[in-house]
Amino acid sequence: MIVVHTVAELRQRCREWRRAGETVAFVPTMGNLHAGHIELVRQGRQRARRVVASVFVNPLQFGPNEDYGRYPRSLPADTEKLSAAGCDLLFAPSVAEVYPQGVGHTTVRVNGVTEMLEGEFRPGHFEGVATVVNILFNLVQPDLALFGQKDYQQLAVIRQMVADLCLPIEVVGVPTLRDADGLALSSRNQYLNAEERGRAATVHRVLQAMAEGLRQGRRDYLALQSEAAGSLQRAGFRPQYVAIRRPDLQPPAETDAAWVLLVAAYLGQTRLIDNLSLS
Ligand code: PAJ
Repeated sequence: MIVVHTVAELRQRCREWRRAGETVAFVPTMGNLHAGHIELVRQGRQRARRVVASVFVNPLQFGPNEDYGRYPRSLPADTEKLSAAGCDLLFAPSVAEVYPQGVGHTTVRVNGVTEMLEGEFRPGHFEGVATVVNILFNLVQPDLALFGQKDYQQLAVIRQMVADLCLPIEVVGVPTLRDADGLALSSRNQYLNAEERGRAATVHRVLQAMAEGLRQGRRDYLALQSEAAGSLQRAGFRPQYVAIRRPDLQPPAETDAAWVLLVAAYLGQTRLIDNLSLS
């Protein structure tokens, strides 16, 4: 696997592959990689000749009181894992390399889908995500890019950006990888202490209980949401939202038959998000 830190080297490698007619899949990450990230690489390998991954903790997508400073950074271990997974190239740039004019000099704002759920609790977050993903897309110019359904709303934001800006990139969503107890794999799980980790899978169980209610024919969405929030609170979580939405994230109607259930909740100092699709 080739490891590059500069835009110039990245562009040169990708240009060579494109000239040779080789397809390129791209997996953007913030590092501290786990099996969920590696699954994106694996699926990229199945769909394209070359796989490019990036590891970049993007300051523009963190709020002033968020965890940018303490976000886990583990480039040597990440490099090992990507190499073992058959990734062809790792791009691990500095902040100055990605934002030569300064962070946020020009930004990309996706409207609509960013203005709810995560967008309400993390103002500016999706503008940071859309901006950096757009920059990375312009550098790599991939044929396809892979994103996890773990970040359901992020995937929707990227799909909308790609459609609205006419980017010639296929966006592939990959199902969430979980630990044995159901907890969605996340780089932030390592903030949890042992006691919290023991309780963290409650989020998944609460999502499953809501799904069961829908399967049994319940359509009292507000009651289902507040029951789920209550279960989380009783288990010591501080929920920010529990939402039953249509797959396009709009509020559901009684006649709907497909939903996505989304949760964001604090457990101690750790903010966990998860979701479940159901049809
Ligand atoms: P990061 O949190 O590192 O996630 C990188 C990719 O891995 C995202 O597409 C995310 O949805 C996916 N992912 C995370 N956990 C997963 C799991 N358990 N199963 C499957 N996929 C999983 O998301 C970001 O970074 C950033 O916002 C980024 C898109 C890189 C822009 O900075």
